Amino acid sequence: MAIYLDHAATTPLRREVLDAMLPYLTEAFGNPSSAHAFGRTARAALDEAHERVAKRLHAEPREIVFTSGGTEANNLALKGAAWAGKAHGHRIVTSAVEHHAVGHTLGHLEKFGFEIVALPVDRYGRVDPDQLEAALTDRTILVSIMLANNEVGTIQPMADIAKVVRARKGILLHVDAVQAAPYVDLDLSSLDADLVSLGAHKFEGPKGVGALFVRHGTHILAQQQGGTQERHRRAGTENVAGAVGLAAAYDLSCSERSETVGRLRRQRERLAKAILATPGTETTGHPKQRLPGLLSIIARDTDGASVSMSLDLEGIACSVGSACTTGSTEVSHVLTAMGYPEEEARGALRLSLGRTTTDDEVAVACEVVPRVIASMRIGGATVASDPLGQAIGV
Ligand SMILES: Cc1ncc(COP(=O)(O)O)c(C=O)c1O
Repeated sequence: MAIYLDHAATTPLRREVLDAMLPYLTEAFGNPSSAHAFGRTARAALDEAHERVAKRLHAEPREIVFTSGGTEANNLALKGAAWAGKAHGHRIVTSAVEHHAVGHTLGHLEKFGFEIVALPVDRYGRVDPDQLEAALTDRTILVSIMLANNEVGTIQPMADIAKVVRARKGILLHVDAVQAAPYVDLDLSSLDADLVSLGAHKFEGPKGVGALFVRHGTHILAQQQGGTQERHRRAGTENVAGAVGLAAAYDLSCSERSETVGRLRRQRERLAKAILATPGTETTGHPKQRLPGLLSIIARDTDGASVSMSLDLEGIACSVGSACTTGSTEVSHVLTAMGYPEEEARGALRLSLGRTTTDDEVAVACEVVPRVIASMRIGGATVASDPLGQAIGV
C-alpha cells in the first residue's frame, strides 16, 4: 500500500464530508436562487455553510464568499482590491515567496500599470515587518502576504505584519491562508486582515472549492459578471455541495486541530531525525514558526526530482522542491529567495504529513527515505531532472 506524504499538495476527501455533500449532489439539487421548495432547500444549506465557516473564523456569514478554490479566492482578493483601489494608488506590496496563485496574479496586474514590490525574506523565509513598513507609501493600496508557505512551511509574523499595515490608513491586507488553514487558528476578530483565502482540499474537503473572507466594509470589484450571487461579489450558480463540504471539513479540522497538530509535530520530528542522520541533509524553513507536518529538506548532491521518483517507486508519494516546466527545470523561487544557491535548491524534497498519516507509515518512511537519498548521491554533480517532474506549485 502506497504511503501518501504529500498533504501540502492535497488531502483525501473525508468520508463524513462526502456524506454531508451527497444530498446536494442528488435529491437536494435545487438552485439556491430559485424561489420554490427545491431552491429554498439549497439556499438553506448554502446559508448554513456561510454561517459555519464564519463562526470558525469569528467572522460574519456575509463576510464569506465561496469560490472555486484557493486560486480563485486569491485572484478575487487581489484583482478585486487592486481595481477597486486604483483611484487611490497603484502600489501593491507582497513577498518573494508567495504561491504562484498570488505571484502570477500580481504579475498580471503589473501589465495593467500596478507597481508590484516583492519583499525579500530571511534564510527561514520570513518577511521583516520593518522592511514592510519601509516599503509602504501613500500610493500603496494593498499588501498580500501568505500565512504559511507551501514549500517550506514557514509561518509569517502575521500579527506584526497586520499591525504595520493597520498603522497606515487605506491599505488593505490580504492573507493567503490556504496552507495554514488546517493548522493555524484563524481568529479574524484578532487577526486584523481584510481579505483571507482558504481552499477546501487542504483540509480534507473537496477540490475546486474555496472561500474568501472579505471584511465587512471592504470594497472589492467582482471579477466575473453575471448574476448577483454571493452578494454581488461572485457571479454564477453556487457550488452548494462544495460549500457544504468546505464547511463540514473546516468544522472537523478546527475541532480536531490541537490533537492533529500535536501528533504531526511528533511524527515530523521523528522523520526529520531519521533523515538528518544522512550526511549532507538539512531542513529548510523556520525551525519553530512552521507548519507542524511539513518537512522540507535539502539533500546535497542529489536531484530532488530523481529522489522523489525513486521514492514513488518504493511506494512513498512526496514532492520535489523545485518547479519543473516542460523541457526545462526551474529552481524553486522560494528557496532562491531564501538564499539557497541553485545547486543546493535542486536537492530539495518536501514530505508533508497529514491528519491521516499513521505512525506505521512514518516508521516505513524513516527507513526508506534516508536509504533512497543515500543511494541517489551523485558525487557533487547534479543529474538532469525529469522534464515531466512534478510541480511544487501546490
Ligand atoms: C499557499 C497556497 N495558495 C494557494 C493555493 C491554490 O489553491 P487551490 O489549489 O485551491 O487553487 C495553494 C495550493 O495549491 C497554496 O498552497
